[in-house]
Amino acid sequence: MLEFFDAQPSVVEAKKALVPAHIEGQIEYRDVSFSYAGDGHHRVLYDVSFLVDPGSQVAFVGPSGAGKSTIMDLLSRFYDPSEGQICIDGVDVRTMSLEFLRKNIGIVMQDTILFSGTIAENVRLGNPDASDNDVLEALASAYALEFVEQLPDGFNSSIAEQGKTLSGGQRQRIALARMFLKNPRIIILDEATSALDTESEQYVQQALSELRAGRTTLIIAHHFTTLKDVEYIYVIDQGRIVEQGSMSDLLAAEGVFRKMYESQGAMLAIDDYFPAQ
Ligand SMILES: Nc1ncnc2c1ncn2[C@@H]1O[C@H](COP(=O)(O)OP(=O)(O)O)[C@@H](O)[C@H]1O
Ligand SMILES: [Mg+2]
Repeated sequence: MLEFFDAQPSVVEAKKALVPAHIEGQIEYRDVSFSYAGDGHHRVLYDVSFLVDPGSQVAFVGPSGAGKSTIMDLLSRFYDPSEGQICIDGVDVRTMSLEFLRKNIGIVMQDTILFSGTIAENVRLGNPDASDNDVLEALASAYALEFVEQLPDGFNSSIAEQGKTLSGGQRQRIALARMFLKNPRIIILDEATSALDTESEQYVQQALSELRAGRTTLIIAHHFTTLKDVEYIYVIDQGRIVEQGSMSDLLAAEGVFRKMYESQGAMLAIDDYFPAQ
């Protein structure tokens, strides 16, 4: 108990934390290394460097345990790098206000987290000051308004009571409405490993692609179909970026990515990625 209360959080806010006037959404990792132990041993990331332009869409792929989620967690400062630096718009995230940083990063997990309470309360977590009208607009943007309006109490229906009647895809669309309301410049998307039912999947994918448009998006991708919408791909293995490039570059390189593509039983015709002769 005493140890617990004495524990210092490893991430602390800078003394005169910056609150930039606005954020463009450029992301840069410079030689980032990391170990959970904090002692430099048992590294899980080694010299990870990359630059993402504002508004562009990049994906991270690689085997389980490679370090993809860890890379994402460092951006929101759930942990700080052991070595190296992470910047947004050229500003080290360690110098920014934590509240500002996290307000500008939207994390979309596809195993949706909804809380007990009403649908409106769940959406409003994205922005506690939002009006009812803003909540309705966010639900509409997430393709959730139609089914929410059919519930007896509309968006004041309780999630717990609807728990059994809301499908997985409907719950996800409520979580996406929260993101539309939050309106962050940066989106981190941890793609679901398994697919949803097809009807819901279509709405969820549509809402997601509209959410991503114009925002810097980092996706942990598990399906090759997801990669068709991204501009650049980083292949992560054992804590390192081992390959990078566009889909067609990586397939042409005949390296790790090409092997993964073939072993996953490519869901898309490989020819789609080669320019017409
Ligand atoms: N909270 C943690 N404490 C200690 N080790 C962790 C923690 N989270 C992840 N790891 C380890 O860090 C490595 C990278 O994990 P992770 O970033 O989750 O990989 P991925 O998302 O690519 O599957 C793995 O070896 C994993 O066991
Ligand atoms: Mg992960």
